[in-house]
Amino acid sequence: MTNRRTIDYLRISVTDRCNLRCVYCMPEGGCPETPRHEILSYEEIVRVAGVLSGVGIRHLRVTGGEPMVRPGCLDLVRRLRGLPGIESVSMTSNGQLLYGRIAEARDAGLSALNLSIDSLCPETYARLTRGGCVRRTLDTLFEAIRAGLPVKINAVPLRGVPAEDWTNLAELAREYPVRVRFIELMPIGRAQGLEGVPQREVMERLSAAFGPLRPDKTPYGHGPAVYYRPDGFAGSIGFISAVTREFCGSCNRLRLTADGFLKLCLNRAGGLDLRGLLRGGADNVRLETEIREAIARKPERHGFFERLPDRETRTMNGIGG
Ligand code: GTP
Ligand code: 5AD
Ligand code: SF4
Repeated sequence: MTNRRTIDYLRISVTDRCNLRCVYCMPEGGCPETPRHEILSYEEIVRVAGVLSGVGIRHLRVTGGEPMVRPGCLDLVRRLRGLPGIESVSMTSNGQLLYGRIAEARDAGLSALNLSIDSLCPETYARLTRGGCVRRTLDTLFEAIRAGLPVKINAVPLRGVPAEDWTNLAELAREYPVRVRFIELMPIGRAQGLEGVPQREVMERLSAAFGPLRPDKTPYGHGPAVYYRPDGFAGSIGFISAVTREFCGSCNRLRLTADGFLKLCLNRAGGLDLRGLLRGGADNVRLETEIREAIARKPERHGFFERLPDRETRTMNGIGG
C-alpha cells in the first residue's frame, strides 16, 4: 500500500503547549509540559525539514499545541519557506495570538492558514476551548481574508452543541471566500468518551439549510478534506471524515512532534527518534537513510477501532493534529 502513496507533506509540531484547552484535546489543567531541552530547536527543525525535502516532502504545515505560543514561530516559517524543494508552508492555529500579525506572517512566506473555530457563539466557544474568545479568532480570520491569505476554518462538531452552530459557521462561506471544514472527532487522547457527529448528519443539516452541496474539486490544500459548494456561496464547505470515510489509502503525510519524533501515522506510536539521531551526531546521509527506512514502515491504516499493539498514547496537542 505504501508504494502507491506519495509522501510529500510534513506536519511540524513546534510545541505541545497551548493557550487554550479544547475539551477534546487537552485536560482542563493542561498536560505536563515537555522540558525545553527535549524540544527540537528551530535549527534542528530546519535541518530535519531540509533532509525531508530530499526524500520528497514538498509541503510543510506548522502546528502545535498552538504554534504561536512558541516565540519566533514566524521566523521559523520564513526559514522553512526558504528551503530548496519546499513549495508551501502553512499553519494550523487557534488564531488567538495571530491577531495583528497577519502581515508579518505573509511577509514570512506563510502560504495558507487554518483556524480552529468550533462555534461562533461566544459562550459555546469559551466553554469548548475553556476560556477562548471567539471574537479574537474572528478578527484574525477577517485580517487574513483582507490580506488575501488563503484561509480555512476547522470545526469539530460535538454531540450536545446545537446544530444551528454548524449552519452559522457554514454561513461564513456564503459571503467570504473561505473553506469551512467539519472534522469528525477522532478517538484519540481526550476525545475518547466524547461523541462526535458523523459527516452524513452535518451534510443533511447543511443541505436542508443551503440547498444541494455540489462537489467542488478545486484543490484547496494538501490534506484529506473533500469540498462542496452550495449555490450562491463565495467559499466552500469541506469535510474531513477519518472515522466514517477513511482516507488512509491516499495518506501523503508524516508528522514531526515537538520532541523530535517522526511519526508515520496519527494513531500509531511507531516512527523514528530523530532527536536521538540528531543529537547523537548523525550526518545527513544517515538521517536520510533512516527516514527512508521509516517511511517504508508506514502503517496502512489508522485502525481507530481495532486492538492495536502500537496505538498512540500521546494526546492531540502532543501530536499536532
Ligand atoms: P490542508 O487541507 O492542506 O489545509 O491541511 P489539513 O487539513 O491536513 O490540516 P489541518 O491541520 O487543518 O488538519 C485538519 C484536521 O485533519 C485535523 O483534525 C487533523 O487531525 C486531521 N488530519 C490531518 N491529517 C490527517 C491524517 O493523516 N489522518 C487523519 N486521520 N486525520 C488527519
Ligand atoms: N478529532 C478531530 N480533530 C481534532 N482536532 C484536535 N483533536 C481532534 C480530534 N480528536 C483538530 C483541532 C484542530 C486540528 C489541528 O485538529 O480542532 O483544528
Ligand atoms: Fe489548543 Fe488546538 Fe488543542 Fe484547542 S485543539 S487545545 S487550540 S492545540
